[in-house]
Amino acid sequence: MTAVSAAAAAYIVSGLLFVLSLAGLSRHETAKSGNAFGIAGMAIALAATVGLAARSIEAAAVGLIVVAMAGGAAIGLWRARRVAMTGMPELIALLHSFVGLAAVLVGWNGYLSVEADAGEQTEVPAGLLGIHSAEVGIGVFIGAVTLTGSIVAFLKLSARIKSNPLMLPGRNWLNLGALVAFAALTVAFVVAPSLGVLAAITVLALALGWHLVASIGGGDMPVVVSMLNSYSGWAAAASGFLLDNDLLIITGALVGSSGAYLSYIMCRAMNRSFLSVIAGGFGNEGSTASGTEDGEHTEITAEEVAQLLRDAGSVVITPGYGMAVAHAQYPVAELTRTLSEKGVAVRFGIHPVAGRLPGHMNVLLAEAKVPYDIVLEMDEINDDLAKTDVVLVIGANDTVNPAALEDPGSPIAGMPVLQVWEAEHVVVFKRSMSTGYAGVQNPLFFRENTRMLFGDARERVEDILKAL
Ligand code: TAP
Repeated sequence: MTAVSAAAAAYIVSGLLFVLSLAGLSRHETAKSGNAFGIAGMAIALAATVGLAARSIEAAAVGLIVVAMAGGAAIGLWRARRVAMTGMPELIALLHSFVGLAAVLVGWNGYLSVEADAGEQTEVPAGLLGIHSAEVGIGVFIGAVTLTGSIVAFLKLSARIKSNPLMLPGRNWLNLGALVAFAALTVAFVVAPSLGVLAAITVLALALGWHLVASIGGGDMPVVVSMLNSYSGWAAAASGFLLDNDLLIITGALVGSSGAYLSYIMCRAMNRSFLSVIAGGFGNEGSTASGTEDGEHTEITAEEVAQLLRDAGSVVITPGYGMAVAHAQYPVAELTRTLSEKGVAVRFGIHPVAGRLPGHMNVLLAEAKVPYDIVLEMDEINDDLAKTDVVLVIGANDTVNPAALEDPGSPIAGMPVLQVWEAEHVVVFKRSMSTGYAGVQNPLFFRENTRMLFGDARERVEDILKAL
């Protein structure tokens, strides 16, 4: 077997392992084995690629590749060990920007080694030069959009810049104009490839990526992260065409299409139009008001909450980002066990975008050994909330905000929420009256049947446990 066909066989094995990995990652029971398949696939792919390259480059260059890979692996391990669960989305956004940067560099390298070198002998036959130029233009464009889009997402998610949508006048026309200009520039580049046109495509795409994500508001950021995931996949696939690497094309297509499908599912869960979110917040016009409804809130003590729970027949817990920040899942699991032993029916209601990651709350509750069968999705529990005695809103805010249903001018208008206010009593655990991720005031806090339990969620749940 030649080295080329050995590499091709290794690529097929890697591709299959990546498919198994995605299948495994789709359910939490099989997620660990899914991860293991992915790691194995990537190890085989790296070994095959470096082995193949080693045949045509000098030993010193192979050494450099190995040093770069070892350095990258060490940094990756260090970051992955240190990152808190709540910091995961911003880390993912940052990693997407690297894929975008790699695609831009691969595209530029393609230009410099083929089109800019037209006098010399290149590996691309003259008849296919146009196709190569189109691949360079498209690859650089997708890569550059992914690069700046992911950087803005990283800055927004890590609260280094405000998460409010940027509302430039005529922003949809700006996006459309950029797409038309890209098409025209790509045609010009295919007809007469030049450094100037490629630079113009790059700058245009960098600006478009920045604008697309900057114009998306706080509440829609989860969709943006999965969308950038999808873009990074297509950027990798474009690089695969340029590098003539089948595995990169397969992997890029897998990431691209699964990211697009996840974005679609999340848009459906949040009642957002898929097209409007990928077009950069299209349809958000006039909804930047942060909600100004104010009123009187009533406080409650941990002992009083314990009394409410003792008297209750049914309790629903709706956790959110604050539960993750406070690491309150362990005392919450303990509280669930204590109440169940006392004969109280306890269930959880999970909003699809609660926390900062898809499935964030499910992962935390599974970690604290809360049985799966009492953890229900929003659609499964919403109808039961009116028959519930007590709802404990632990560190959730946007996902239980009635303004989403009642105030058409709210930035989160139309997003389905957990209708906790329909229960007999609602207790909200948070540290202050400040807003949640979307920066919108929450009228739930001023409802007659709502009581505020201020303080760190973990400490307050422990206080309730003591009182029980
Ligand atoms: P949020 O609306 O973000 O509210 C979290 C609340 O937790 C805050 O009001 C905060 O109030 C409270 N909190 C923070 N630390 C706390 C602590 N130690 N103890 C007690 N409370 C604490 O949460 P949510 O309801 O889960 O909604 C998620 C939001 O994030 C949505 O807008 C969603 O679109 C967005 N988002 C989601 C994702 C995914 S995929 N899930 C990704 C990106 C963005 P205090 O500061 O007053 O304590």
